[in-house]
Amino acid sequence: MPQPATRRTVLATGAGALALGCVGCGGEDGGEAASATASMPASSAPPAAEEASPAAEETFPVAEAASPAGKALARTSDIPEGGGKVFKKEKVVVTQPEKGKFKAFSAVCTHQGCTVSEVADGTIDCPCHGSRFRIADGSVAHGPATRPLEKRSVTVDGNSVHVD
Ligand code: FES
Repeated sequence: MPQPATRRTVLATGAGALALGCVGCGGEDGGEAASATASMPASSAPPAAEEASPAAEETFPVAEAASPAGKALARTSDIPEGGGKVFKKEKVVVTQPEKGKFKAFSAVCTHQGCTVSEVADGTIDCPCHGSRFRIADGSVAHGPATRPLEKRSVTVDGNSVHVD
């Protein structure tokens, strides 16, 4: 007698659990389906953004490859013959001591590190303590600096002046 009752109890309990489980599952399934549907646009957005990032990064090497001779600072016509021009932002001075011959130097004064301010009368001049450097080779024309300006590599590509 106790065995069938126990079996029924188990079956009933199991059925009840299944029924409850199904009711619960049915409700949750519907909810999950709804929430999954609702969240799909949101969850699909990040992968799309991630795909865009590598593509954006890939453009940088391509952009750098477009100027193999270095950054184009100016046009040749921007650099006066027998003079030069200071590019303060890039901390570079480009000079043209002779027609068609371009030189480039660091714009950082070797005395105490000020940025040179102008090119005049054949020299690159520092405003801080009056040092002057020759436009042909960056050597010291007037102290207190004792060392020449650091040379930079310059190339001319057509009408563009590039400094590495
Ligand atoms: Fe240029 Fe002193 S820092 S002269």
